[in-house]
Amino acid sequence: MLDPMSRQLEGRAAIVTGAGRGIGRGIALVLGNRGASVAVCDLDEQNAKAVAEEINAAQGKAISGLADVTSKKSIEEFTARAISEFNAIDICVANAGVIGAAGYTERRDYTDADWDITYGVNVRGLVNTAEAIIPHMAERRYGRIINISSHGGRAPAGVSTGRGTVGMPYSVSKAAAIQWTHALAIKLGKFDINVNVVCPGKLWTPMWETISMQIHLQDPDMADLTPREVFDLQIEKDVPLGRPQTPEDIGRAVAFLASDDASEITGQALNVNGGTRMN
Ligand SMILES: NC(=O)c1ccc[n+]([C@@H]2O[C@H](COP(=O)([O-])OP(=O)(O)OC[C@H]3O[C@@H](n4cnc5c(N)ncnc54)[C@H](O)[C@@H]3O)[C@@H](O)[C@H]2O)c1
Repeated sequence: MLDPMSRQLEGRAAIVTGAGRGIGRGIALVLGNRGASVAVCDLDEQNAKAVAEEINAAQGKAISGLADVTSKKSIEEFTARAISEFNAIDICVANAGVIGAAGYTERRDYTDADWDITYGVNVRGLVNTAEAIIPHMAERRYGRIINISSHGGRAPAGVSTGRGTVGMPYSVSKAAAIQWTHALAIKLGKFDINVNVVCPGKLWTPMWETISMQIHLQDPDMADLTPREVFDLQIEKDVPLGRPQTPEDIGRAVAFLASDDASEITGQALNVNGGTRMN
């Protein structure tokens, strides 16, 4: 069946970072399905290529490539390529994110490396991604920048309190992503560039597989549960709607913010979390 909103982004072009899997993949597929051309990039070039192939196979239009958002040069090069392939870019989704440094599941408490990598990707990565596209959008006096934060950026998370402090750098970096969105929206309003942020709740992606494994290994109360059971318990206890979100749920929220229906919305943080946080 045709998606009833299928023409919503006809004629638009988008960049999505970290789009090789998980939420980024879901966002790229929804944007492609709604008629946008999509430049799919990721640290994992093969995954990005596979997502672009999925979009092209479904009669969409996509290109793919490697882009490391922690490197200004890398994201600038990919952005320049996307602009030249599609003539213009209307939508930029800064989705790439990390939960922490290598060895996350094996420790209860954060290390310097957790602070460095979460700030490098989840904060500086958003800044690098926006800075790569702002000159182009400002010149065209049109643009939609959509950042991906987390409900963890709204309030420290956790049904499981026995897991230690290892999740703190992630939550703090995601709060910074919200503040970055507010500041950028004020700065770019005069160019008709809307900047918003989506705060997903809990989705069973490789990121939550890592979190669940950490809880399973580090919280004695959760030791008898498998990682998937840990996740399901979080959903049962923490989510009023009683179910996890899907990458497509996040993609539909992004598509709305990228559409003309959202032209008067800027500087906002949109929760897509089944009710876990209401601020
Ligand atoms: N899964 C959840 O429940 C959840 C909840 C709230 C927010 N989020 C956020 O949504 C976004 C996507 O999360 P996910 O669950 O799909 O995670 P994921 O780990 O499944 O996927 C993240 C993707 O980002 C890519 N990436 C990592 N570092 C990168 C870099 N330096 N440059 C470019 N790409 C890089 C990875 O290669 C991967 O493809 C993240 O920002 C995450 O913080 C996820």
